[in-house]
Amino acid sequence: MAGFGIRIEGLRKRYGQGDTAVDALKRVDMQVAPGEVVGLIGPSGSGKSTLLKCLGAIIDPTEGRMTLGDDVIYDNGWKVGDLRALRRDKIGFVFQAPYLIPFLDVTDNVALLPMLAGVANGEARARALELLTALDVQHRAKAMPSQLSGGEQQRVAIARGLVNRPPVILADEPTAPLDSERALAVIRILNSMAKQFQTAIIVVTHDEKIIPTFKRIYHIRDGVTHEEAGEGRSLGLA
Ligand SMILES: Nc1ncnc2c1ncn2[C@@H]1O[C@H](COP(=O)(O)OP(=O)(O)OP(=O)(O)O)[C@@H](O)[C@H]1O
Ligand SMILES: [Mg+2]
Repeated sequence: MAGFGIRIEGLRKRYGQGDTAVDALKRVDMQVAPGEVVGLIGPSGSGKSTLLKCLGAIIDPTEGRMTLGDDVIYDNGWKVGDLRALRRDKIGFVFQAPYLIPFLDVTDNVALLPMLAGVANGEARARALELLTALDVQHRAKAMPSQLSGGEQQRVAIARGLVNRPPVILADEPTAPLDSERALAVIRILNSMAKQFQTAIIVVTHDEKIIPTFKRIYHIRDGVTHEEAGEGRSLGLA
């Protein structure tokens, strides 16, 4: 899959109107190259989840411009006819609270998306199992979501966000419930996906263990972004 890249310019998001309006994003400017993993850091309520939801076409921005690859997807209004197809084909989401499908086992929770995209069942399950193994939850492959710990659920949700190899991955606090070894394993997987498939990845995090791994970081405060160099500490990747 060709590299894709993300560009956000002058993005604003106002929730509600009149006296109760909340200006969650006031001025967001951000760029992520194909193959890059960028950190997004900021205090609670600063607009991090709002930004990912706008970029992932889950909510409507109020103003600004967003580009994926060569396609302007939003320019003071959506420029894409089929937002469901955009979400399904281009965006991999890892949400803050994983919502797994309660009546499917772990493997099928992950294999469902590739199956829906037309991948043969056996191949979809094989891909699911490969990711579950990389995330160290393969021993729970046949369990139901309600039988998993919070950290196990999170790792299954991560596998599900990655399984279709989308060109853009948006991860909202993906490592919050994980111990440091597993948190670093998640970041390692994201970095190798970025490299292998030229994925552009944004990771929202407060996690002190993983912040030093980013080469570039965007800080957001009160809905305004600022770019900073990160430490880019080595993850022992080839
Ligand atoms: N649906 C909504 N309606 C009105 N205001 C909202 C809505 N969702 C979020 N907000 C407000 O927008 C602001 C940004 O919220 P957001 O969820 O993006 O913050 P965040 O940076 O992700 O915070 P956290 O670190 O706590 O997850 C907050 O003031 C929040 O109260
Ligand atoms: Mg949030």
